[in-house]
Amino acid sequence: MGPVAKEHSHPKTQLSGNSTSQLINRSTIQLPRMHNISKAIRIRNEQTNEMEHSTPLFLTSSFCFDNAEEMRAAFADETDDNIYSRFSNPNVQEFTDRMCALEGTEAGYATASGMSAVFASFMALMKKGDHLLSCNSIFGSTHTVITKYLPKYGIEYSYVPANNMSEWEKSIRPNTKMIYLETPTNPGLDIIDLAAASALAKKHNVLLNVDNCFATPVGQRPIEFGADLIVHSATKWLDGQGRVLGGVVLGKKELIHEIYLFCRSTGPALSAFNAWVLSKSVETLDVRMERHAQNAFEIAKRLENHPKITWLKYPFLASHPQHSIAKKQMTNGGGLFCFELKGGLESGRKFLNQLQMLTLTANLGDTRSIASHPASTTHAKLTEQERLAVNITPGLIRISVGLEHYEDVLNDILHALEAS
Ligand SMILES: Cc1ncc(COP(=O)(O)O)c(C=O)c1O
Repeated sequence: MGPVAKEHSHPKTQLSGNSTSQLINRSTIQLPRMHNISKAIRIRNEQTNEMEHSTPLFLTSSFCFDNAEEMRAAFADETDDNIYSRFSNPNVQEFTDRMCALEGTEAGYATASGMSAVFASFMALMKKGDHLLSCNSIFGSTHTVITKYLPKYGIEYSYVPANNMSEWEKSIRPNTKMIYLETPTNPGLDIIDLAAASALAKKHNVLLNVDNCFATPVGQRPIEFGADLIVHSATKWLDGQGRVLGGVVLGKKELIHEIYLFCRSTGPALSAFNAWVLSKSVETLDVRMERHAQNAFEIAKRLENHPKITWLKYPFLASHPQHSIAKKQMTNGGGLFCFELKGGLESGRKFLNQLQMLTLTANLGDTRSIASHPASTTHAKLTEQERLAVNITPGLIRISVGLEHYEDVLNDILHALEAS
């Protein structure tokens, strides 16, 4: 097995010389009943002889061996020594181990972006002739991968609406290999019942793959509802400060091992620097998400009956169509809400142009609040019909609520609404 399958219970002890790349999840070993958020803070690479408190950055392409036998054994997968940073790297492993603790999974593999995590999870586990059943409300680039690239490799797909499980069941084929979904969905914030999706997957013996980017593992743990795989864009809330790209696939050892083998040869490795940044970021994920969610809830409550808004969706507002499912599977409503402006496309444009503090940028999950207009940006590649099928209407605005004081975010939105 490769490095992805490292056993937390069989750490290597630190030796002198070239062994500083060995990883130990000491917290896991000493305090097995530690909370996941504590593990995400305390799991770390073994200290070097410098006795540093913060994990150092292992900016190295390759790793050394004391002798030919050690090198042979590493290549033969008889040891879990690092060989080359396309395969594994201590900073990447630390970030991955922390994500495993947060999501409650056995193993993981971190990638250069969320899209390489999504793509690897498809390509490593499906083959020509297989069928993917996907929710139709998904991120724009994931839609492109499913509709443009999977068919080139002979992988079929069907789309099903977010909240019609009987339609999902009808769309299962004998060759269905995987069910793929996001919840909350991007950008419409629909909530899909994870327990129901998992029951369907188990009944038909197919894999359930969940993009947990919007909720994050502190807001929802798909594994507890029966998911087999979890993918993330670490670029969003996991980084939380809009600095680096990253992604990760998490799940059962055997599945992750296949993904590791695919990535080891095809090369979408996460850089050590980005992994170092992300590993520090997840230490604060729990507190950050608590405030993001509090801010989003306060602002959404105050805006939902605004005369210029047709509807507003936030998972923890009672008006959300799948509010009860959100309450069942999420611990907070997350940091995003979306609404439809009464004046459609033109009002959307005016609204964005009137914002004075919120940023117009192609990202979400930052300390700074962000406004976006999916119809003209992230989902522009979909046809108008495809957009409408997933409720991306011309006046849809998505707000990623930052960590500013919520009144400042609210006031900026109110001012822009008045002027639109
Ligand atoms: C839900 C979701 N999944 C995946 C991705 C892709 O992530 P990345 O941009 O890190 O490749 C995004 C990006 O916005 C996203 O919102």
